[in-house]
Amino acid sequence: MDGLREKYLEQVAGAADENALEQVRVAALGKKGEISLQMRELGKMTPEERQVAGPALNALKDEINSALAAKKVALEDAALDERLKTEWLDVTLPTRARREGTIHPISQVTEEVTAIFADMGFSVAEGPQIESDWYNFDALNIPGHHPARAEMDTFYTHRKEGDNRPPHVLRTHTSPVQIRSLEANGAPIRIIAPGRVYRADYDQTHTPMFHQVEGLAIDKDISMANLKWCLEEFVKAFFGVDHVDLRFRASHFPFTEPSAEVDIRCSWAGGTLKVGEGDDWLEILGSGMVHPKVLQAAGVDPAAWQGFAFGVGIDRIAMLKYGIPDLRAFFDSDLRWLRHYGFSALQVPAVHSGV
Ligand code: PHE
Repeated sequence: MDGLREKYLEQVAGAADENALEQVRVAALGKKGEISLQMRELGKMTPEERQVAGPALNALKDEINSALAAKKVALEDAALDERLKTEWLDVTLPTRARREGTIHPISQVTEEVTAIFADMGFSVAEGPQIESDWYNFDALNIPGHHPARAEMDTFYTHRKEGDNRPPHVLRTHTSPVQIRSLEANGAPIRIIAPGRVYRADYDQTHTPMFHQVEGLAIDKDISMANLKWCLEEFVKAFFGVDHVDLRFRASHFPFTEPSAEVDIRCSWAGGTLKVGEGDDWLEILGSGMVHPKVLQAAGVDPAAWQGFAFGVGIDRIAMLKYGIPDLRAFFDSDLRWLRHYGFSALQVPAVHSGV
């Protein structure tokens, strides 16, 4: 028995890993293990012999079991030590430099415009980009046969075969938000509505998707003079100058009467676009006094209320302010362009922040 004890304790001590240890256990204490077989022999002994051999064999079994358990823990500890040696991490190391994204100039300019008009008491309204022809056209005094529908290069959606309702459109301007806001809130109202608009057009100053901000102010006594003042204040605040040359051109929109388009003095010399100098003019907005039929379509009594509306091209004024000569670059998603013209997330526009 002493021989068995010595042999197996030695093998336990020498086991290099958990597999080897398991083999030792099977050889000693498994069903056919050497010690298990010895225990089976107890039955053949005389009671006197058994009284001596029984406890001794049990003690041997216990001793080997505890040696196995202790060795198992030791092997696990050693394996963990080994892993810790290779997998440690220095959390005090500085992080790897990581490029941060930038705010797109269109988003930045939208925030700037919003901040300026918010300061003048306008709140922000929104409408859907897929619009019914009622909101995009009819309610704005553009009936079915009106040439303005064709002029706007409208994108129409498909109807199912046999569905004869007029198709929805990708809104061609933000003006439908005038109707939606008046319907929802009635008069008086003072809102701006920034958002995406769509027209099938593509060149240096036109892309099929672009951005406008609509303005609408309706009250008892709002006049064209208020419109002019508002727009001049806006343009001065937006470009951060005391004076800008604006050109109010008599124009025509079905939803305003009278109507005016506003151009801003600029120069394209040397491929850069500069505002406030040169002999060129860039159209940046359409405006006018809201047509009585539009108020009526929106459920507002034109005998009691009047006011102005305007639609500014956000992309246009972004090009002017930041000297970006080609509108198409805005939507190419060229990372180099975005990093160059993009804004830090911390550059939050506010009227008095100077951005
Ligand atoms: N909706 C017009 C356009 O997209 C702009 C506009 C808005 C004109 C409001 C007058 C009043 O061209």
